[in-house]
Amino acid sequence: MNIEKSIGIFDSGIGGVTVLEEILKVLPNENYIYYSDSKNNPYGDKTEEEIYNICDNIVNYFIQKECKAIVIACNTASAKSAKKLREKYPEKIIIAIEPAYKMVYDFAYDKPTLVMATKGTIESEKFHKLYEKYDNHKTYLLACKGLADIIENGNEEKIKCYLKENLSKYSGKVENVVLGCTHYPLIKQQIVQVLGDVKFFNGAPNLAKHLKDVLLEKNLINNSENKGIIKFIDSNNSDLKKDRFFDYLLKRNVLERE
Ligand code: DGL
Repeated sequence: MNIEKSIGIFDSGIGGVTVLEEILKVLPNENYIYYSDSKNNPYGDKTEEEIYNICDNIVNYFIQKECKAIVIACNTASAKSAKKLREKYPEKIIIAIEPAYKMVYDFAYDKPTLVMATKGTIESEKFHKLYEKYDNHKTYLLACKGLADIIENGNEEKIKCYLKENLSKYSGKVENVVLGCTHYPLIKQQIVQVLGDVKFFNGAPNLAKHLKDVLLEKNLINNSENKGIIKFIDSNNSDLKKDRFFDYLLKRNVLERE
């Protein structure tokens, strides 16, 4: 039996699977508990206090499960609660995602850029600081109200309509797109259909590398040679979400078929 402690990872639904995908590429032998908080989806339009309370409950759940690290795989939750959660649980490893705007500064500074994120993330103090620090003066900020929710529900037609309505005006105008919500990598192809061939920036690969570095530094890496176990929990007990979650990981080749 594999008794190694797990890494807890959560989002307002299944969007955080795009973060877990990147983590599995660098830490395939760890055990994971993924908490999909469908019940409280979307986080994007909630107040800071509401998001903090939701996240605090989830972090407590992971602490009870003796998780050795906790990953906030949601930009909105990170922006609104990571600082306070780290203050409340200073002894816990809490790794939080943020929009990959610094990557634009590092690798494609001179190119016109569109940052897509939830209203909560765009309006947050944390994102403002990041934006001011790395501003390339050719950036459009787009608060995609409701988009994460539409992706979560998986209705292809609605996704297409939303993108056509909200992104068409940037077609031909931007070359970089920052996917500032963990749900958005799930619709890259549909975004390309509206914006054409753009370069995507996603914070998940850097988060994964950072998580691995922290675990190495603290001597917490699971040295087993076998693949770890992934446990999926949905706050609405949705089997549909569970199927979509595992189907995605299988399609992305980060999970082996049993
Ligand atoms: N996936 C979350 C993020 O990265 C947000 C979704 C929501 O609004 O619930 O921001």
